[in-house]
Amino acid sequence: MRYTLYIVLAAVLLSLCGCVSAPVKEGDSTPLVTEDNLQASVTAPAATSDEDVTTEAAATTKTPTTAEIAASTEETSDEVPATEAMTEEVTSTEETEVTATEPEVDPKEEETTTLEETESEVIEIKENEHFFLVNHRYPLPDDYEIETDYVQGSYELEVTAAKYCRDMIEAAEKDGIELKVLSAYRTVSYQKKLFERNIKSRMEKYGWTYDEAYNDVLINIALPGTSEHNAGLAVDIVTEDDWDTYEAFDQTKEFAWLQENAADYGFILRYLKDKTDITGYIYEPWHYRYVGVEYAALIRDSGLCLEEFFEQYVWADDVPINEETEEDLE
Ligand code: DAL
Ligand code: ZN
Repeated sequence: MRYTLYIVLAAVLLSLCGCVSAPVKEGDSTPLVTEDNLQASVTAPAATSDEDVTTEAAATTKTPTTAEIAASTEETSDEVPATEAMTEEVTSTEETEVTATEPEVDPKEEETTTLEETESEVIEIKENEHFFLVNHRYPLPDDYEIETDYVQGSYELEVTAAKYCRDMIEAAEKDGIELKVLSAYRTVSYQKKLFERNIKSRMEKYGWTYDEAYNDVLINIALPGTSEHNAGLAVDIVTEDDWDTYEAFDQTKEFAWLQENAADYGFILRYLKDKTDITGYIYEPWHYRYVGVEYAALIRDSGLCLEEFFEQYVWADDVPINEETEEDLE
């Protein structure tokens, strides 16, 4: 009777193979990402142009263990046909059942578990009014307009980002963490003044030529119209109004809190330490970008900077998720 049940189970599972969610395949027209294949592609050596990404992500985010990555890569690999994978699972379960002295498992429960393991959450990633790229290459349109609201003191953000930012500051406070806003929404004309003022002060302070000062400012402050602050979607957060703390912000408990919780409020750390060659900016542990709650954790856990994330998961029509090449990121 027991064997009959297992044979029936095997037959049922084999017949179900056709309706189990398949991993994203080459030729799919929409860039669909699952958490599993996203993590696998981030940590696979060929997936990025910088191998340190893996190390950094593992150290600072909730990246899975090597074993989990190997498992998820195998699960989503196109090279293993779903039917074969399912057959193997059934066979090995039978062997375990025959020899094991563990309590009997209800075959119905097993069937459910196998299917659940095979199915994966599929997330479609789309640009929207809060989730878009703004940088040297993608400036804001001249007619960009937003409604703003206050976040702390006189600092403002775009109205939705402002609400989430206020909630984040309040939640931090409840945890005994005081987040101090040092900069938020900036008009394009203010950005221009800031940029020019910084060139001037560097020339005076270091005796640099205009070009030397300009080139240094360029990796610290966005050109007018290309800043996320101009979009009203970036906030600079520190602990105290003090430049030393500002630079060493990633050593503080406030930073640790943000690493853990900012994504719950739709914010990501934007200018990562190991991505300066891609973002074009120095590491800014204080600069948080509102992207929306639906994508923030996914981006944080990917270890990718926003430029890479857009290349790989938002704009990559017809590009198989697990076969990204280095050229895609150059
Ligand atoms: N500091 C960042 C790059 C900005 O000015 O937007
Ligand atoms: Zn900033």
